Amino acid sequence: MSNAMRVGVLTGGGDAPGLNPAIKGLVYRGSQLDLEVFGLLDGWRSLLNPLPELLPLDREAVRRWDRDGGTNLGSSRTNPFRQLMEDGTTQDRSAEVIANITRLGLDAVVACGGEDTLGVAANLAQRGVRVVGVPKTIDKDLAGTEYTLGFDTALRNVSEVIERSRTPAGSHGWVQIVEVMGRHAGHLALWSGVAGQAHIILIPEHPFHYQRVFEILKDRLGHPGFTRGPSQRPRYAVIVVAEGARAEGGEMITLDDRHDTFGHVRLGGIGEVLARRIAAETPYESRAVILGHPQRGGPPSAIDRIMGVLFGARAADAVAENQFGKMASATGIAPVLGKISLVDVERYYDTERYHLKDSGM
Ligand code: F6P
Repeated sequence: MSNAMRVGVLTGGGDAPGLNPAIKGLVYRGSQLDLEVFGLLDGWRSLLNPLPELLPLDREAVRRWDRDGGTNLGSSRTNPFRQLMEDGTTQDRSAEVIANITRLGLDAVVACGGEDTLGVAANLAQRGVRVVGVPKTIDKDLAGTEYTLGFDTALRNVSEVIERSRTPAGSHGWVQIVEVMGRHAGHLALWSGVAGQAHIILIPEHPFHYQRVFEILKDRLGHPGFTRGPSQRPRYAVIVVAEGARAEGGEMITLDDRHDTFGHVRLGGIGEVLARRIAAETPYESRAVILGHPQRGGPPSAIDRIMGVLFGARAADAVAENQFGKMASATGIAPVLGKISLVDVERYYDTERYHLKDSGM
């Protein structure tokens, strides 16, 4: 009889490029360590099914997965500790998850996810479940690792849009606002704004003042009018605003009032609010675009392929070494914290210029 360890792998939360390379890394390294890997579909939700499906994943099955964006296992935002019931109440169904892991004969579970999915993993680990995490989120807001899968690809996607938004803005002479995901963290907004050379970057970690935004615009644009030629003042500006950014004394703007079972609301709309205020209170025309889910779309970047494969391989090592309650991280195998990390404003953010600190921008 084989002594192979049976490992279930799942992906939870928002999809992100880099997840499929991570699964390939897990399966390939796992094949050297006598791990037999099975896919669990749609995140933690799979383990709440009466009969969860196990998708056998061998080298042949995942051979091409490094090139795929999203997650080939599907994802959900399921929280087994607070499952929403039909009558609107929530129930702790973690015992079913634990029973299913035993029933399926899984020796370990590898959970790929962000704060929420790995928060569940950390709670299950405390109840004795043999779980290993792989950090993933385009928000890059997970404590305990320097990198989270998906961030680099999202950075590429967002920077490209910022770059492309300059020509219409320049041609028409308006202020283009680009609203970027990231939930409560400004990592994606800040670094894509720097890469795309936005003129103002607004992040959740530092509430902004409308008047200050208007002043910075005036510094750049002066009075509106027709200007042309290399020596003339610019006639457009690009503002990157994180979806979680808010004005001092104001609230974060949400798409609706609903909270998911992790307690999150869906953010969105601050870009449009800002555009209206600029149009109403300054001489400048303004347009806003919400980038939405395509930020997470497309094939993984080179960095996400590399980090995915490395994280997956380290997760296989952690399982083989019985290092449970841990996750792969940019610096090796680290504890699963399931907590968020925000932009270090003191270090990186100029709170006067609303831009990268000490960069002259
Ligand atoms: O966490 C990733 C993320 O894309 C956030 O940046 C964003 O706020 C959220 O997911 C969007 O949630 P959903 O994919 O459920 O619309």
